[in-house]
Amino acid sequence: MENAIQYRELFDFALEAASRAYAPYSRFRVGAALLLDDGSIVTGVNVENRSFGLTNCAERSAVYAAVSAGHRRFRAIAIATPDADYPVSPCGACRQVLSEFMSSETPVLFGPDFARAVHSTIGAIFPFDALHELADSSH
Ligand code: THU
Repeated sequence: MENAIQYRELFDFALEAASRAYAPYSRFRVGAALLLDDGSIVTGVNVENRSFGLTNCAERSAVYAAVSAGHRRFRAIAIATPDADYPVSPCGACRQVLSEFMSSETPVLFGPDFARAVHSTIGAIFPFDALHELADSSH
């Protein structure tokens, strides 16, 4: 279990990342910060496209950046949505992708700011997850 200071720091990374979002169509900036097993942090932002369906959410950007850098074990994720006045939770696609690399107890924080952030877990927002045995961990 991480402490509150670490969660605040993680959330601050997500908030700072949100300023780098590429969101000219929705004008809805999202930043995500993944806490890795070694204590370091990898961030991601939403990257939109004029072919709207190609948009990549901040959460998946962060996961893909971390995995691309050789990291597969995540201790927590914070998601900052400064353009909303209420906590916006990860979309269904992102819940599935996060679950690939997280145990059901892994903390998931989301909110417009830390004070209003919801503290949940991947198991709570993506229940009845299954089929992890299909993965061959040597690859
Ligand atoms: N978005 C995210 O990046 N993560 C979320 O959790 C919610 C939605 C992005 C996708 C799109 O660029 C914009 O927010 C509006 O849906």
